[in-house]
Amino acid sequence: MPFYRLFLIAWTLCVAVVFVMPGLLLHDDWQRLQDRKLAATFPSRPDAGDFKALRRAYGRAREEWPAPVVDPSVAFMELGPLERRPQPEGRELARARLGRLLFMDPVLSASGHFSCQSCHNRQLGWSDGLRMSVGHARRTGRRSAPSLYTAGYRDIFFWDGRAASLEEQAAGPLLHPAEMANESLADVVGRLRAAPRYVSAFSEIYGGTPIVFSQIADALAAFQRTLERPTRFDRFASGLPTRFSDEELWGLNLFRGKAGCANCHFGPLLTDQKMHNIGLSFFRRRLQDLGRYDVTGDPQDVGSFLTPSLRHIRESAPYMHNGVMPRLVNVVALYNQGGGTLRPRNEKEAADPLWPHAARTSNLLERLELERAEIDALVSFLETL
Ligand code: HEC
Ligand code: HEC
Repeated sequence: MPFYRLFLIAWTLCVAVVFVMPGLLLHDDWQRLQDRKLAATFPSRPDAGDFKALRRAYGRAREEWPAPVVDPSVAFMELGPLERRPQPEGRELARARLGRLLFMDPVLSASGHFSCQSCHNRQLGWSDGLRMSVGHARRTGRRSAPSLYTAGYRDIFFWDGRAASLEEQAAGPLLHPAEMANESLADVVGRLRAAPRYVSAFSEIYGGTPIVFSQIADALAAFQRTLERPTRFDRFASGLPTRFSDEELWGLNLFRGKAGCANCHFGPLLTDQKMHNIGLSFFRRRLQDLGRYDVTGDPQDVGSFLTPSLRHIRESAPYMHNGVMPRLVNVVALYNQGGGTLRPRNEKEAADPLWPHAARTSNLLERLELERAEIDALVSFLETL
């Protein structure tokens, strides 16, 4: 080969290394930068190229996912796989097994007809499929039974946040007149003390003393801590191989992005464990439920409810504290309008000093103007949770 040809080849290589490579590298950095903005910039009517960018962006480690669109006041934590408790062993396993027995046993109710399972059924996402639970003497309670999947992972319970631990929570349904309707916890304890199989089961775990209520609560809690299961989103967010469709990815991006869901539903549990008024108190209407206000008496709390976890949400329709939303698409449509709106019917109603508080919904909500396809995408994402 003549010398000048070799020279030409070497020269071309040099040019490539010196000029083209940095260009390519710069292009890569530039692309990363653009991808980081995707939660805010993704179009309402995406094309194939947009979906390619989305897949690239969410294919990276979670720290590099597009920056979420959340209010500066929000202590956002990235969505991610839930690190589950190890399977119980030894004494812990014995407590959970006893708890399971109690959970399924109608002996806990005054009438002998209701077990915890009557309203928290595994087949119905540990809920009951009803708008509002029906319990003792067919009385309808005023709230919807929450799913118990994440019960073992949260620090606040009930729609109005009135219990701070599962052990504290347990007395609630046992004494509630529309649930298990016991006159006192001593009644429940008395019935178990009279059942030989419980006497021996409790004494094996807790020692020889007669059964006391704290042991019942402890066993029920131990069982409820075992209910969590992995989800498709857990797999996806851990980078494990799982098929996530374009539509589901789009929904994830909307959830963390312009739909604003991640303002309140974030972290592996998909809840901030805080109270918000999203406009469903039905203030001064038949379905009125003032939520947190009934616990604190603070007017600021009128209509505030605990942000529920969204894990396994597809299994536990209908939705909201009063079960008024039959399907997930109805929930998303509500948020699309900026939450529920309340207006006084007349002057007399308007004079009620609590009206302004009831009507003032969270400032983390706004009208979203989502297109139909975006609503569908959000719903498909919710179904992976
Ligand atoms: C008649 C139906 C019914 C029965 C029976 C029942 N529950 Fe519930 N449960 C509900 C309803 C309704 C709520 C929500 C009440 C509220 O928030 O005010 C609830 C709330 C809970 C919560 C709080 C969940 C959360 O996310 O905040 C737990 C935990 C729970 N129940 C466990 C139990 C256990 C354990 C038993 C049996 C001892 C039981 N329930 C029996 C209907 C029932
Ligand atoms: C301001 C905080 C906030 C924002 C923003 C928010 N949520 Fe919620 N979410 C809540 C609260 C509080 C509830 C319970 C309200 C009630 O029952 O009255 C709830 C309930 C839900 C439920 C029903 C859960 C169940 O178990 O019944 C779903 C589903 C849901 N939200 C999805 C979303 C989606 C999707 C978005 C975004 C479009 C979103 N949320 C935005 C606070 C929020």
